[in-house]
Amino acid sequence: MTQRRDFIKKAVLGGLGLSLFSSFRGEEQPPPIGWNNIESQFNIPPDYHYLNTGTLGISPKYVIHSYQKAIELLNTKGAYDQYKKQLYQRMASFFKCEEQELALTKNVTEGNNIAAWALPLKKGDEVILSTHEHVGNAIPWLNRARIDGLKIVLVELGKNGTETLSNISQKVSSRTKVIAMPHIPCTIGHILPVKQIAKLANTLGAYSCIDGAHGAGMLSLDLRSMGCDIYSGCFHKWMLGPKGSGFVYIKQSLLSSLDTHFAGAYSDNSWSFENAKLEFGGIRSDSAQRHAYGTQSDPIHAAVLSSIEFIEKLGVKKVEKTIRNKGKRLCEQLLELPELEVLASTQANENGGIVSFKPKRKDYREMYQNLSRQGFRIRAVPESSIDCIRVSTHIYNSDASIDQFVSAVKKELV
Ligand SMILES: Cc1ncc(COP(=O)(O)O)c(C=O)c1O
Repeated sequence: MTQRRDFIKKAVLGGLGLSLFSSFRGEEQPPPIGWNNIESQFNIPPDYHYLNTGTLGISPKYVIHSYQKAIELLNTKGAYDQYKKQLYQRMASFFKCEEQELALTKNVTEGNNIAAWALPLKKGDEVILSTHEHVGNAIPWLNRARIDGLKIVLVELGKNGTETLSNISQKVSSRTKVIAMPHIPCTIGHILPVKQIAKLANTLGAYSCIDGAHGAGMLSLDLRSMGCDIYSGCFHKWMLGPKGSGFVYIKQSLLSSLDTHFAGAYSDNSWSFENAKLEFGGIRSDSAQRHAYGTQSDPIHAAVLSSIEFIEKLGVKKVEKTIRNKGKRLCEQLLELPELEVLASTQANENGGIVSFKPKRKDYREMYQNLSRQGFRIRAVPESSIDCIRVSTHIYNSDASIDQFVSAVKKELV
């Protein structure tokens, strides 16, 4: 029994990328959620500067605990679908939309694929993407374009949201049927004006599909008032949830007119094999949850629920403010270094928890490698030859850690 427990424990901790030298072992009660000594709620080693939430967030002990408890429950009593109903209710109130407008996915890319295949598009229709897309938004649209002969139109991002919006406006035509842009591009982290982008699409009679990989958890989201048609997000980055968990939002008024390509249990109105009739009552048109078919992971649902609870208990607005203040602290210090080009928006309120920069006279890769060797977990951005270093700030990054990072950058510049 103990051996089995140890095995499960190691598998869970290993799966979440945790080190086994931490004081928390998952079977104890996690510490109560609160801002006091926030670093103690996580297993991040004290001498390790995890500045890469833009790739994956570190889950708090509270979330890991739920994950482990759910694995135990599932594998002792076979109890299944214990959390899904509650989770949809909680997600709807967290994202300020209706339960039927949401479907659980395994990641952002799945949500982007659902969007790319749901829309009624035909040969010659144009899809606008930015030159800063993550592969997880580019490929779903390029794939649909490959199969159905759509035309992809690329737009450069501007130095701020106004410029970006104007760049988009210059690329639209009577054939524009989709504007598919990131809420916050993975490269330079500007918070794009998605409300205005959605409005522009709407006036054109086109669809707005937002890749929200970095929205949930970094920003307090109000999906309904954002006005976009489809929004794909995840829990495994800024929400600090379990890895391999996401969601897609589809505006209620579109549900009945959009298609569903992958379907199964929970996608249909009714189905029966009686009298060998190969018929069924059709795809559910009343809910986006038709996209979340078949057996799902209870432990992931439990852990997502806990990650929402964790952020809500800390206060979603306070989490956003803290992330942004830390990003600002970093950005302001980097802007003082003339040897760097800081790629932040020129409009201060469009910057959040992702700060990107590149050295003007040094090789960014070499600098990235040197900083990584010193225990700063950051990301190099080679995409579209942007060639910069990306730093993400979350609630577990202390101000001291950010200042140490800046000192290390300064040393690299001499
Ligand atoms: C902007 C953006 N879109 C999509 C993705 C893909 O996310 P996922 O791995 O959850 O599919 C990422 C991942 O970093 C991203 O940054």
